[in-house]
Amino acid sequence: MKIRPRILRKSKGIRSLVQETKLHISDFIAPLFILEGEGICEEINSLPNYFRRSLDETLLDLKELKKIGIRAVVLFVKCEDHLKDNAGTEALNDDGLMQRSIREIKKHFPDLVVFSDVALDPYSSFGHDGIVENEKVLNDESAQILAEMALSHAKAGVDFVAPSDMMDGRISLIRNKLEEHRFTDVGIMSYSAKYASCFYGPFRDALDSAPGFGDKKSYQMDPANRKEALKEVALDINEGADIIMIKPAMAYLDIIRDVTIETNLPVSAYQVSGEYAMIKAAAEKEWLNEDDAILESLTAIKRAGASLIISYFIKDIARILNTTKN
Ligand code: PBG
Repeated sequence: MKIRPRILRKSKGIRSLVQETKLHISDFIAPLFILEGEGICEEINSLPNYFRRSLDETLLDLKELKKIGIRAVVLFVKCEDHLKDNAGTEALNDDGLMQRSIREIKKHFPDLVVFSDVALDPYSSFGHDGIVENEKVLNDESAQILAEMALSHAKAGVDFVAPSDMMDGRISLIRNKLEEHRFTDVGIMSYSAKYASCFYGPFRDALDSAPGFGDKKSYQMDPANRKEALKEVALDINEGADIIMIKPAMAYLDIIRDVTIETNLPVSAYQVSGEYAMIKAAAEKEWLNEDDAILESLTAIKRAGASLIISYFIKDIARILNTTKN
């Protein structure tokens, strides 16, 4: 034999020298769920060991996250029921929970990169990402409101807005709105290819944001489609997105790959709540080794091409990388 591939697998030292994909804690963005109140830290039922926190508790948690090397967070807020309507009123409140959270977090952690979720579902009495009329989610009216929402987050000091709604044309409306108001250093991380996925279930529990009627298939993408992802990505790039996101991650690694090849922009991927819940549930039953599953799933996402990863395993991966398990 002239070629023996096993030579490069002989020892841990050799394997680490030739390893093609290495995770680093700076690849990660931590998703945070914030709710109104004080001193609240409650575990999310379907996201075991992941918590919803009031803003004061979030600030304490951020100290810990900073200590383990986290540089970026994406914020989601739980809107109180009595503030929900079909006009996104609370989403535009400059003193709403999201806006206050951005201000406080940037005040205490100016170096932390803060992304904010832009979509109406947490604020919607229908649990949809836009304005509803006759059981239809209106595109243009919703996109206008999303641009106002992005502006309100920019005023609060956010670094990147992250529109997760999948309305057509919203990236250019947001970009124009930011330009108009001279927020020329606020970025847009666009959920460009966001699929209508069952893997968002636990997230909707976390924010109590499940759609009240129907589903999200008239705006989120059909899981069967691949070329359509490239169309969505091309549109968002043209409209002014800075970072492209693919979501979910594990069942869509081919899409991450395709998009990474097609674009020069940074590509991020969201290991969503259902992906986390599956690993947690299997580990709890001792059907999988949890740390191995976390490391392998996240490595696969980076190997496919994502240079940024949003994951609820943020603290676990920091610990695993520190112990250089691989
Ligand atoms: C909604 C939104 C969802 C997620 C992020 N933003 C859920 C949905 O589209 O219903 C899901 C994230 C996750 O499952 O972890 N704008």
